[in-house]
Amino acid sequence: TKMFTYDPGFTSTASCESKITYIDGDRGVLLHRGYPIEQLAEHGDFTEVCYLLLYGELPKPPQKEEFAHRVTQHTMVHEQMTKFFSGYRRDAHPMAVMVGTVGALSAFYHDSTDITDPHQRMIASLRMIAKMPTIGAMAYKYHIGQPFVYPKNNLDYAANFLRMCFTVPCEEYVVNPVLARAMDRIFILHADHEQNASTSTVRLAGSSGANPFACIAAGIACLWGPAHGGANEAALNMLVEIGTVDRIPEYIAKAKDRNDPFRLMGFGHRVYKNYDPRAKIMQKTMYEVLEATGHTSDPLMKVALELEKVALSDEYFIEKKLYPNVDFYSGITLRALGFPTTMFTVLFALARTVGWVAQWNEMIQDPHQRIGRPRQLYVDAPLRDYVPISNR
Ligand code: CMC
Repeated sequence: TKMFTYDPGFTSTASCESKITYIDGDRGVLLHRGYPIEQLAEHGDFTEVCYLLLYGELPKPPQKEEFAHRVTQHTMVHEQMTKFFSGYRRDAHPMAVMVGTVGALSAFYHDSTDITDPHQRMIASLRMIAKMPTIGAMAYKYHIGQPFVYPKNNLDYAANFLRMCFTVPCEEYVVNPVLARAMDRIFILHADHEQNASTSTVRLAGSSGANPFACIAAGIACLWGPAHGGANEAALNMLVEIGTVDRIPEYIAKAKDRNDPFRLMGFGHRVYKNYDPRAKIMQKTMYEVLEATGHTSDPLMKVALELEKVALSDEYFIEKKLYPNVDFYSGITLRALGFPTTMFTVLFALARTVGWVAQWNEMIQDPHQRIGRPRQLYVDAPLRDYVPISNR
């Protein structure tokens, strides 16, 4: 029989060719279409990054304006969808709501599901990029028992999202530009990360020709896990659990104990073995947000900084090349922005949607594209005859 390469976790299998994102894990480099993440986060905005990921080039001014306008056209969800929400239990996790609701988009938009038509593919892509903040904000509002807030399309992507989340009844929400910029930067940092688990899931689901909205729902499901997008929520919960600096050694010891499954959440990365370049930018953004919101003396910050210091000087973490990743700092930042931990992974999903749709589009246009179908090494009994139940 034919033998296959055994590669659990696909650590050495390239599943596709891609022009979207380049990572050099040993040097801590992340490029989108050639542009370093540091420059995109510092000088660009999320709309430009979306355009870049989808079309391959940074937009010229009229292209950017038109693209922003096209996204804006699709921010509303069908009014019927607001009723869909009331089927969820009030205490449902917002990610559960996201998986269900984004999957349900496939039941609403039949005119953008012919994946052989580039025009329909782009409409489906724009719909998802545009509707994700609306649905994410609705998940939040439903969770806290407040009325939904409709998008206000003269605001940019991040400001619009903050307004949908934080407008309370009878009070106009004024967007703080520092916080909107921070939100936008958080979106940029999470926009794409080549063939991570959720993106590979979207590609695999899409490789069968499945409905694009359903494929993105599959990506959201994968992102939810604590080893992936759920790490930002888990990291903050961990900081809360640690609580005070004096308890850090106890948690470091637990993380190092091979018989204890506990891991320091927000540390380590499959690809980055030097540092996560996103984490550096995220750390800077964290300080900006803490400054702007007056949370500079947040006790969790103290725990985070001390934990980082201890871990970075510990032999175990050095030897295994475990550095803080993007999710280590995003939790504190998102909390200072006013989000509960249960919303953290929703924000990640919202930002990653553009990466998912860009990769899905690339896959569909790839002449080498075939259905994703890994093989296995079968390791149980060889051929044997059926035994009637009375003889077993
Ligand atoms: N704390 C303690 N030990 C760790 C950690 C950690 N956070 N991460 C890895 N290790 C150890 C692990 O126990 C293993 O030890 P040994 O060789 O003795 O068995 C070794 O380091 C290698 O770990 P691995 O699980 O084989 O590495 P991986 O590439 O499969 O996993 C990871 C990468 C990110 C899933 C893992 O580092 C982890 O679970 N980190 C915590 C969760 C987290 O922060 N995830 C967010 C990743 S960045 C954003 C995203 O991708 O969504």
